[in-house]
Amino acid sequence: MLESSRYSGDNRLLGEVLMIYQQPLPSPYPALDAAALTERILAAKAKLGDQAVVLTHHYQRPEIVALGDMRGDSLKLAQFAASQEKAKYIVYCGVHFMAESADILKRGQQVVVLPDMGAGCDMADMADSDDVELAWDELVGVLGHESIMPVTYINSTAALKAFVGRKGGVVCTSSNAENIVRWSLEQRKALFFFPDQHLGRNTCKRLGFTPESMVLWKPGVPLGGQAPERLKDSRIFLWQGHCPVHAMFTLKQIHVLRSENPDIKIITHPECPMEVVDASDAVGSTEFIVKTIAESAAGSHWAVGTEMNLVNRIAQENPTKKIVSLNRFMCLCGTMNRIDLAHLAWAMDSIVAGQPVNVITVGEPQRSLARASLDRMLQMS
Ligand code: 13P
Ligand code: SF4
Repeated sequence: MLESSRYSGDNRLLGEVLMIYQQPLPSPYPALDAAALTERILAAKAKLGDQAVVLTHHYQRPEIVALGDMRGDSLKLAQFAASQEKAKYIVYCGVHFMAESADILKRGQQVVVLPDMGAGCDMADMADSDDVELAWDELVGVLGHESIMPVTYINSTAALKAFVGRKGGVVCTSSNAENIVRWSLEQRKALFFFPDQHLGRNTCKRLGFTPESMVLWKPGVPLGGQAPERLKDSRIFLWQGHCPVHAMFTLKQIHVLRSENPDIKIITHPECPMEVVDASDAVGSTEFIVKTIAESAAGSHWAVGTEMNLVNRIAQENPTKKIVSLNRFMCLCGTMNRIDLAHLAWAMDSIVAGQPVNVITVGEPQRSLARASLDRMLQMS
């Protein structure tokens, strides 16, 4: 089945055709129950030993996290992937852009495997590098060369990271966005931030910029839908992308929870809309959320604004505290959750058999250009 061709345009531009397919799961995996699949994964891990590491992002299903060697946010996992010397196989239980970053940062001949190629990121898909290139040319036409720093959130395609690297820009994650944006604005007059308008707006607001002074760039519309004078007057340009999972949190939910629970503390991810972040008691990456709640006093009461698998895990790991989702009807990140036991078992068995499936390979020149933008970030982290 053709899952998606979401990155194909980007890669064609750079000389590599990478169509994203997810073939149907072969026999016997669809017919096996959880116990049998877990047994297969453990057997494969035992056979491979330190030849393979299984990385799991905080948003993964509990049964996947339980089988991982390392759990973390996107920065921690990128740093871990970059530090791997021994393991030949990096099995990335996360989404496509994270596996691409691991492949770009790997040392030597490692092989990065994404158990389900359908595990994309809706936000990353909102910033096609062809559209970004067009927008860039238009903005440079108004502001002039060398005046704009491109910064892309790590939740973006390798093609967009390569574009940013080519223009002397840098990648950021939700843990280091403030430092990276501050540095960028010291280097150049203006910032063009992709693809998450909310992380961009929340970060720039913390650095003292007013929301009104920031320009929202609408992709596919001439000059991003703005008058040239407005562009000339601004320093912050935000790509109109967002995370559909974090867009589910609202200010009203905070008001209702606070009115019913005067002791409650609100903690949210910076991909949430600005009014939600502004009304929160604490804001930070998935790793920050985990750590902050773990270190809070017994009996404390938290409402968490992030993906549901993580909220459920925090509740389980902090039995002396009361943990709820900020949104009572919150759902999972559908693409993160495509990684299940059956796909992980298939991926691990394929490695044991010497024919790994779903290998993520970022070709040249994209790799070196994207690497430059990721290395700049790692040096500053
Ligand atoms: P972190 O960088 O906090 O892990 O977040 C990644 C992500 O995809 C959040 O939606
Ligand atoms: Fe992408 Fe949002 Fe899912 Fe994170 S939660 S992987 S940003 S769609």
